[in-house]
Amino acid sequence: MGKIAPSILAADFGKLGDQLMQIERAGAEVLHIDVMDGVFVPNISIGFPVIRSIRSYTQMIFDVHMMVQNPENYIKMAAEAGADSITVHQEACPHLHRAICRIKEEGCKAGVALNPATSLHMLEYVVKDVDIVLLMTVNPGFGGQSFIPEMIDKIRECHELFARKNCSPLLELDGGITLENAGECMQAGADILVAGSSVFRNDIQANIQKFNRIV
Ligand code: DX5
Ligand code: ZN
Repeated sequence: MGKIAPSILAADFGKLGDQLMQIERAGAEVLHIDVMDGVFVPNISIGFPVIRSIRSYTQMIFDVHMMVQNPENYIKMAAEAGADSITVHQEACPHLHRAICRIKEEGCKAGVALNPATSLHMLEYVVKDVDIVLLMTVNPGFGGQSFIPEMIDKIRECHELFARKNCSPLLELDGGITLENAGECMQAGADILVAGSSVFRNDIQANIQKFNRIV
């Protein structure tokens, strides 16, 4: 069974606590939290004080997506703020294997994210060590963009890599996920679908329930 992970980037930050309780009541088990530094991506989102503040509002799993340069410098802070999993970008990390080890040392699940244009070959020598592979299905930095259709092939090829390396990390997709394309993404082999704008527009609870029926 797959999971939907609402992305708080699309939430109303003025009533974040309320919205988190709504999505949890509607059945979301994973909360996707985007941390952006304005360097690795051309946008700035939220940081660790916010993660720490919302930790007590919900039991959901905190899936922290670090869109920052040199994420190694922030792994401890993310873990202390309440992250359950920490995902770093291959493109932002000169010492990717070390970063993965550091995440695990903090007691968190370790994820590696790839931008749409980054080859799956970049995972070759670390994939056995990771708990999550996050494939970006838009260019990172902003919510509300359109899903890049070529990423469906990448999902399938990612499963070929897992089979060849004899491992089975969770496969997470992030960006442009809608009620219309969620079914195709699951069929191609996704385990977790991150959805921001398509969860937080109109009726949040109804959206989550519809996604949950698909995944
Ligand atoms: C984009 C972020 C996403 C974003 C997805 O860089 O990583 O998590 O919130 O938003 P939607 O679902 O609107 O594409
Ligand atoms: Zn994200």
